[in-house]
Amino acid sequence: MKILLLGKNGQVGWELQRSLASLGEVLALDRHSSHFCGDLSQPERLAQTVLAYRPDVIVNAAAHTAVDKAESEPDLARTLNAHAPAALAQAAAQIGAWLVHYSTDYVFNGQGEKPWQETDATGPLSVYGQTKLEGEQAIAAACAKHLIFRTSWVYAARGGNFARTMLRLAAERERLTVIDDQRGAPTGADLIADITAHAIRQVMGLPEASLAGIYHLVAGGETSWHGYASHVIAQARLLKPEMGLKVTEIAPVPTSAFPTPAKRPINSRLDTRKLENGFGLVLPPWQQGVNRLLTEIL
Ligand SMILES: NC(=O)c1ccc[n+]([C@@H]2O[C@H](COP(=O)([O-])OP(=O)(O)OC[C@H]3O[C@@H](n4cnc5c(N)ncnc54)[C@H](OP(=O)(O)O)[C@@H]3O)[C@@H](O)[C@H]2O)c1
Repeated sequence: MKILLLGKNGQVGWELQRSLASLGEVLALDRHSSHFCGDLSQPERLAQTVLAYRPDVIVNAAAHTAVDKAESEPDLARTLNAHAPAALAQAAAQIGAWLVHYSTDYVFNGQGEKPWQETDATGPLSVYGQTKLEGEQAIAAACAKHLIFRTSWVYAARGGNFARTMLRLAAERERLTVIDDQRGAPTGADLIADITAHAIRQVMGLPEASLAGIYHLVAGGETSWHGYASHVIAQARLLKPEMGLKVTEIAPVPTSAFPTPAKRPINSRLDTRKLENGFGLVLPPWQQGVNRLLTEIL
């Protein structure tokens, strides 16, 4: 099997380099790659890459992910999150390849308390959410053989992450304030990459576009950013008491305490039953991945 991976150095892209390696030959690109173009700002050249390399599967882990910045550069966000996936989908359809792509709970308006299902009405609150939704729609229209995984609150051991930030602040300050009214599930890039590889293996063994579609992919359970921060700090104290974290109070605050250019959904819960039933998977509780991350980074 030949796989074209875009966005190889992002949180998910980095983990995909590991998880896809055992499936076959992987051509992994980033925006700076020279022989083959992996730059999402050049959709036509991306399509040329697909037609020249002729992969069996394209996995697009690249995107405009700077949610607040997207508000002030909607054209760039749209090119990267909608036009580039559209070009990939058209090229994939031309050569009969599968296209695997990632999207977000930000396609929803965040109202209510029920986990969102794949069939629920969308209603993005931000440029990022709107352009990611346009990307989903363009893919579904152009390429029957697609898998779109909507995820949320992604973290990875490599680079900066929420847990590291909380630990740094907890070492510096006695009081932290953390948002308590947004609910979701922290999801490891490693879990997303492993499930992607599992899903690719399954769809490649089935006729045509069976199992194609949109799936919600997040770790099990739910929490708030406050619950997430509290868990990280308690777990760090257990794993490494000698850190001597200074923090004595983690105060819950509403989203309005931290104004941002892009509006975030309050309800980021995603219902994962379609993925679990369709692919015979169990999504582990979010604490499992976060504890593993902490063991790695502490
Ligand atoms: N992070 C989250 O919490 C989250 C939540 C829901 C959904 N998602 C979705 O999950 C997917 C993976 O996200 P992630 O967390 O792995 O994001 P990430 O770490 O920000 O990685 C995104 C990658 O896209 C690359 N990129 C940006 N502009 C590019 C361009 N013009 N051409 C080629 N590559 C470009 C970045 O490259 P540089 O490093 O060179 O900038 C980066 O490697 C995305 O589709 C995202 O929308 C993420």
